[in-house]
Amino acid sequence: MIDIRIEKTTTPKEKPAAAGLGFGQTFSDHMFLMDYNNEKGWYNARIVPFGYLSIHPACTALHYGSEIFEGLKAYRKPDGSVQMFRPIENLRRMNRSAERLCLPQVPEEDFMQILDTFVGLEQDWTPSEAGTSLYLRPFMYGNDETLGVHAVHNATLAIIASPSGSYYKEGINPVKIMIEAEDVRAVRGGTGYAKCGGNYAASNRAGQRAEEKGYSQVLWLDGVERKYIEEVGAMNVMFKIDGTIVTPALTGSILPGITRMSCIEVLKSKGFTVEERLLSIEELEAALKAGKLEEAWGCGTAAVVSPIGELAYKDDIFVINEGKIGEVTQMLYDTLTGIQFGNGEDTFGWTHPVK
Ligand code: PLP
Ligand code: COI
Repeated sequence: MIDIRIEKTTTPKEKPAAAGLGFGQTFSDHMFLMDYNNEKGWYNARIVPFGYLSIHPACTALHYGSEIFEGLKAYRKPDGSVQMFRPIENLRRMNRSAERLCLPQVPEEDFMQILDTFVGLEQDWTPSEAGTSLYLRPFMYGNDETLGVHAVHNATLAIIASPSGSYYKEGINPVKIMIEAEDVRAVRGGTGYAKCGGNYAASNRAGQRAEEKGYSQVLWLDGVERKYIEEVGAMNVMFKIDGTIVTPALTGSILPGITRMSCIEVLKSKGFTVEERLLSIEELEAALKAGKLEEAWGCGTAAVVSPIGELAYKDDIFVINEGKIGEVTQMLYDTLTGIQFGNGEDTFGWTHPVK
């Protein structure tokens, strides 16, 4: 057990109205912070009023991108209580990201205690309207006060919380996605499987181009051959091709999504065949042209399960399932949100009550 000092705010904020909440725009009253030094280990765990961080201008994260993060949600159940969805998976992934970026590990039990204590304190910020939740953003950054390039000696772990609505303005309506033919997001051996800020910085140029053309996000191709489908900016992708579910294999350049993993488990439990393998753009185009690409969707914590109604690649535009949400996409959305919001039975044991 670690000792967490709690300093409560003396000026609690008003909770935002549910209408027009958007994603990640307002923040709860407190934040968690804990410092690390390679001689002392983790120290000074504290929950303090939400506010600005004070960092040295030479801070490693600012210059060399030593930063990782996670995203998970707390959901309000019909009985008023609050629960998280598979939080341990986020903590484990954060430690895998930390390993890749030479940031320190947080022992799983301590991490869970921190999350439980922080969310326990902030749970009133979990909105109750349909489709809303309390988005939790743990992050860690290298904090050395020197300009040498090396694995960090000092770091900070933080958690902030943001009452949020849907990630896309479309909500559950199909989104339009542009397949990126020029920029790449990650390569095998790089940091694609880690949830680090640099991956997102590298994505911004293509994302901006896509938005200018009216697309919500970019679908990335692999960084070596620019041939295989990888993932979307903030979600993994799945396709229903001739009755079979196909999703890109975790080759090292894709984020191993917790929603992806959950969708695969739900699909298998319902008898679907799920293939995790390389899927080329040619195969996808051929399936589209043959009328065999029945459904496409993205899945992620922020985006939940999001149908893809249109895919653009170079000069071609492909409409999928007449731009409507498909049966499997809807089933996954209903099953996952049913478990997350406590409307459906949690037969997988994925929920974690907040006390
Ligand atoms: N891929 C990327 C690049 C992401 O940012 C996310 C969001 O976290 C995902 C996939 C989906 O991961 P998860 O389901 O764990 O949220
Ligand atoms: C999430 O789904 O939690 C994410 O982190 C996506 C994001 C980059 C907004």
